[in-house]
Parts: sequence; structure tokens; C-alpha cells
Amino acid sequence: MEIVRSIAELRARLGREPRVAVVPTMGNIHEGHLSLVRIAAGHAPFVVTTIFVNRLQFMQGEDFEKYPRTFEEDCDRLASAGNHLVFAPDETEMYPEPQVFAVEPPPVAGKLEGRFRPGHFRGVCTVVLKLFNVVQPQVAVFGKKDYQQLSIVRHLVEQFALPLAIVPAETVRAPDGLALSSRNRYLSEAQRAEAPRLNEALREVKRAVESGDRNLEALEFAADALLARHGWNVDYVVVRSRRTLMQPEPGERQLVALGAAKLGATRLIDNLEILAP
Ligand code: PAF
Repeated sequence: MEIVRSIAELRARLGREPRVAVVPTMGNIHEGHLSLVRIAAGHAPFVVTTIFVNRLQFMQGEDFEKYPRTFEEDCDRLASAGNHLVFAPDETEMYPEPQVFAVEPPPVAGKLEGRFRPGHFRGVCTVVLKLFNVVQPQVAVFGKKDYQQLSIVRHLVEQFALPLAIVPAETVRAPDGLALSSRNRYLSEAQRAEAPRLNEALREVKRAVESGDRNLEALEFAADALLARHGWNVDYVVVRSRRTLMQPEPGERQLVALGAAKLGATRLIDNLEILAP
């Protein structure tokens, strides 16, 4: 597997590849990322994974400095999954001067995750657009685990008429239902045992809505209360339209339950798609 650090070298190398799929990551590669790589390989003969911890998308007080940086292990894992090239620029390569131009996402970026992480999606959209310009892929694979990110990136690609396809990938879970995430490593043993409850709470919301319960507010409240009773600090548990991520229209069927809550200092997110009757 090749490792490239500079934009110039990457451009020269990818000039020889007719079709490229990219998997943008911040590293600390786990099975969830590897599933994205395998999906990418089904869409293009050459897969590039980018590893870049993007300062712009971390808010003050978030874990930018202590975000796990595990480059050697990441490369071993990516190579074993059939990834062809890792693009791992350092900050001076990606941002040789302060990034004063930015992508301003639409108001939905201020809701859900954006309400608790103001400016986060501005940072995500800015780096994603830059990575797309650098790699110039035909395909980019994003996990559904970060559902709002996937939705906003799709909209970005559409509105800027970027010549690439976004491929969504299902969330990879531990056997007990916990969505894989780099942040799971911060959980203590007791917290790790408790962590699947977020998925359980969303599953209960999904079950109820799919069996015809349309009292979304009551379901959200019950899920929130269940988590709070077990020591979670809940940011939100909501049911939204898959299309807009806003409150669903009456009778709208394609929904998604989204949750974010903290166990101690660790903030976990998860979601489940719902098809209402
Ligand atoms: O999902 C992530 O890991 C990041 O938000 C991304 C898409 C790599 C942008 O930094």
C-alpha cells in the first residue's frame, strides 16, 4: 500500500488512475472504516483512504488534541482490507496558511449535532470539499453512523455539482449493538457495558413507529427518560424526516431516529432508519 503525504505527489500519482474511490477518515481505523474501504473497492479499482484530523471541525473544549492518532496500526489495517493508497497530509500541507475561505452549510447544520457542536459542519464541509478537490475521486464512501454528515455532504455535492457519487454505508456494530466509533475507546468497562443502551432506545422508537405509533414526541421523551435513568446525559433523541432531517410531515414514511448522549465525558451518537407504515 502506498503512503502519500503531499498534494503534489498525490495528484501526480492519481493521474494514472482512471477511476478512484475515496474514504475520508480522521484515522484510528476500526472495522467500521474497513467496511467503507471494502464498499469503495466495489465501486472503483483504486481506493484512497485519507487520514487527516481536521482541526476546523473541532470546537473549543473538544478532543482535537487527544483525538487518537494511530497511524502505523491504521496503515496495517487498511492494507489488510485492500486499500491501495493512504493520503495523510499534515496540517501545513492541508492548511499552509489559515483557511479563510470556508463552506457555509445550510441551516440544518445548526440543528441536531450542530446545536451541540456549533461550526462543526462548516469545518467538515470545508475539509471535505478540499479533499474532493485534492483527490478528485469518482466515488466517495461515507458511513451512515454520522447520518447528518452524510446528508449534508450529499447536499454539498449536489449544490456544487461536484462530479462524484456519494455512496452511503451501513453502520458497523459490535455484537451487542454498539455502533463502532473511535470514541468508544474512551469508555470505562462499566460505561462500555452501558453503551449499547443508546441503540436499544432507538430500536424501541423504531419498533413503535413501525408498528403504527405516530406520537413521536412521546416516544422521544420515553427514550430520553430511559437513558437519563441509566445515567446518560442526553443531548437529543428525535425522529426526523430522512430527506430533510427536519420534523417529518404528517404521513411522511421515510424517517430516521437519531440520538446523541454522553456517558461520563464520552459523547456517543447513533441512528436507525425507520419506514413508517
Ligand atoms: O467522519 C469523519 O471522520 C470526518 O468528519 C471527515 C469526513 C473525515 C472529515 O474530516
